[in-house]
Amino acid sequence: MANKGLGKPASDTCVLVTGGAGFIGTHTVLELLDRGYNVVVVDNLYNSKPEAIRRVRKIAGLAEDDPRLVFVEADIIDRDAMDKAFAVHDIDAIIHFAGYKAVGESVQKPLEYYWNNVAGTLALMDVARDHGVKNVIFSSSATVYGEPDSVPLTESSPKHDATNPYGWTKSMLEQILTDLYVGDNEWNVVLLRYFNPIGAHESGLIGEDPKGIPNNLLPYVAQVAVGKLPAVGVFGDDYDTPDGTGVRDYIHVVDLARGHVAALDWMAGRVGTGEAHDAASIPGAQAEDGTRSGVGVFNLGTGRGTSVLEVISAFEKACGKPIPYEIKPRRDGDIATNFADAAKARDELGWVARYDIDRMCEDVWRWQSSNPDGYGD
Ligand code: NAD
Ligand code: UD1
Repeated sequence: MANKGLGKPASDTCVLVTGGAGFIGTHTVLELLDRGYNVVVVDNLYNSKPEAIRRVRKIAGLAEDDPRLVFVEADIIDRDAMDKAFAVHDIDAIIHFAGYKAVGESVQKPLEYYWNNVAGTLALMDVARDHGVKNVIFSSSATVYGEPDSVPLTESSPKHDATNPYGWTKSMLEQILTDLYVGDNEWNVVLLRYFNPIGAHESGLIGEDPKGIPNNLLPYVAQVAVGKLPAVGVFGDDYDTPDGTGVRDYIHVVDLARGHVAALDWMAGRVGTGEAHDAASIPGAQAEDGTRSGVGVFNLGTGRGTSVLEVISAFEKACGKPIPYEIKPRRDGDIATNFADAAKARDELGWVARYDIDRMCEDVWRWQSSNPDGYGD
């Protein structure tokens, strides 16, 4: 079936957001609603709670039965459920967040990770194609660059071997989605490589709600700040960085969410003049209604690096108290420095990150201090 064009106003466009009850998904749903898009969230609630969707509705001022935001509890690998979702809702494009994301767990449970992330995406794309929906934005990660040869990383920096199954799923799915376009030039694919998403919505009503003890730095620091954990372990202070601790490109989740809306507008031909669709050395095209086709690859980062100690210090400023920390050995698989060259997204999507590390920590603190147990039970 021919791909659906995107050359309609946002208010006539329906976006399927898989994993839309999760951390990045909820923030993106809000930005989409704010821009007038209609949204169908599909989530199996494996790593999220219905309360997250209730709060999104609250922030957006939508009643539970408002058709602008529909929630479907389903697994993306369940073809019957997905077929029904596509049949009932006139979906035009997909923003695909659904997946497992814990690096360490992926080493222990490779089958589950490849099944959920890779097989789940294959099933979803197959059903979508049957319904003429070939416009897809995929959540990739800077992890696809592996250990960088140099920083900042541009979209044409080489992809190195992943160091864990989670990373391989991202790398494989980038290839699979690219091959869909090679085989059928109607596909309109954007691969967004996120750097380190942190932060929370300024309302303090939605944010990151990890299960158990957090693996990532910011949720860990936030739980120390509210007294749930005693001290932050700083993994190594002998890296070749200004203060010896690891440097990362932290990006506010609201900026990241806005990046998805920018990508969607760009796919519809509403912004940008660049030749970004040959980013993967694949020529792109533009239909009469402006809808593009091809494969666009973009880093979503700020272009600035922040060390672990700088993060702790920014968080101390945000919460107004000291954060106890202790230096620990390096964590296996960690690299010294990672940050993005974010020029391509700026030049071609017209997108730049607005918020700095202080603002990110203030928003995490507002969320964590008003919801010490996240969304609760
Ligand atoms: P998250 O776990 O908060 O959200 C993912 C959502 O997908 C959850 O609500 C979960 O219940 C749902 N889900 C998982 N498997 C599903 C399935 N088979 N069917 C339906 N729903 C399913 O994670 P997040 O941080 O919001 O990440 C979103 C995406 O971005 C993921 O693909 C992740 O790999 C990617 N990403 C995240 C980060 C990060 O640091 N958070 C960095 C780079 C890339
Ligand atoms: C990790 C994943 C990466 C994934 C990303 C999602 C690993 C090796 N990498 O990236 O694949 O895409 O999360 O955001 O897991 N740190 C501490 N103490 C802590 C936690 C972290 O010092 O308790 C340090 C780390 O050594 C690193 C920095 O903080 O220097 C950021 O760590 P983290 O938040 O886990 O992100 P990444 O390792 O960059």
